Amino acid sequence: MRHVVSLGSCSLALALAGAVAVACGDANTTSFASSGGTSSGSIFLDDGGTIAQNIDGGAGTGTTTGLPCDVQKVLEDGCIGCHGGSTSPRLLTYADLTAPSTQYAGQTVAQRSLARMQAGTMPPKPAVPPNPAEVTTFSNWVQAGAPKGGTCTSQPDGGGGGNTNTPPVCTSGKNGSTSSDVGVLMDPGRACLVCHQQRGGPRFSMAGTVYPTAHEPDMCIGIAGLQVVATDTAGATLTMTVNSAGNFCADPGDPKKCQTTGTLNLVPPFSVKVVNPTTGATRPMGGTITSGDCNVCHSQNGANGAPGRIFQP
Ligand code: HEC
Ligand code: HEC
Ligand code: HEC
Repeated sequence: MRHVVSLGSCSLALALAGAVAVACGDANTTSFASSGGTSSGSIFLDDGGTIAQNIDGGAGTGTTTGLPCDVQKVLEDGCIGCHGGSTSPRLLTYADLTAPSTQYAGQTVAQRSLARMQAGTMPPKPAVPPNPAEVTTFSNWVQAGAPKGGTCTSQPDGGGGGNTNTPPVCTSGKNGSTSSDVGVLMDPGRACLVCHQQRGGPRFSMAGTVYPTAHEPDMCIGIAGLQVVATDTAGATLTMTVNSAGNFCADPGDPKKCQTTGTLNLVPPFSVKVVNPTTGATRPMGGTITSGDCNVCHSQNGANGAPGRIFQP
């Protein structure tokens, strides 16, 4: 099912004005249009709106974009929170990036993107800019003539087992805090990377929330004591400890911020699993992904083929 396309008014204002410091009300509840786990073509925003993607194969949705995996991840981690369809130019697919700039004659959107990253003017402040390694990744690709990439992600295989046919419930019965002073405990269930792209906060390579059951609402505190393990194609692993809000994260710019062990800069694509370190039980994700914004797909109802929340094994 395709989602109803409705962009949150707050995000639209941000996109038009570029005034990212403008305060936006933190919506404690979100109303997703999704009713199932089979949709593709939309990116969910933290404020409950969606970014229209009138194509299949956009960055952030897990489908093939035509972009090399590492280039795709730079865009997913820093740009698509705004350039997902609302703010021009759209930066979701190979066709988007190789299109001519509408503002700068003789340059492609990819060349403009590189220019703006190198100038330090994209993403606009207070978002944390791509690190030098990411800019180099993007620059190397543009200098090489922007070659088309292979397939980064694999199709959903129906899920990692477990009972996804459960009623919507906040098992903990407690809401987390939206206030920024709680850091890693903030905003359980909501899309961490998209909001940080728009409003500031650390530039995570991965972040999300683990719940006891499959359909828990935004802001509901999840389940602590588990681990999320990501593995890249070279076999390097990153282990993230799930904290008392149910959240986990990885911040290559500040390894101490989140409780992580292993390789912080995995080479995309990667596979992921949830592990119970006490019992050894695991729940793997069937496919491979490049986007680390887990809650974009693992929303209450699930999006882009995900069955719902990431939940305990
Ligand atoms: C917070 C929202 C936001 C984020 C995140 C963001 N942009 Fe933008 N971008 C804008 C806005 C607003 C404009 C139009 C105003 C302008 O050009 O400064 C824009 C314009 C652009 C343009 C067209 C103008 C030109 O100079 O050709 C490019 C290219 C661009 N952004 C690339 C990027 C890239 C690459 C990233 C990620 C590294 C990124 N943007 C992240 C909001 C954002
Ligand atoms: C609705 C927007 C929004 C969402 C959703 C959000 N954040 Fe944040 N986050 C922010 C902003 C804004 C800041 C910067 C606050 C500041 O620097 O004062 C921030 C800062 C942080 C910090 C740094 C705090 C510090 O003390 O340095 C951490 C860690 C963090 N967020 C984790 C997360 C995690 C994990 C998630 C997802 C489960 C998440 N955030 C979701 C807006 C958000
Ligand atoms: C682009 C969308 C997308 C993103 C981003 C995503 N997932 Fe998934 N995930 C899926 C889909 C689709 C499935 C169901 C099919 C499958 O298992 O491949 C799934 C299934 C899972 C499962 C197993 C099934 C279950 O219901 O528990 C786990 C665990 C999981 N994901 C963890 C993660 C973690 C951790 C992240 C972030 C690092 C993440 N996912 C990011 C799409 C996504």
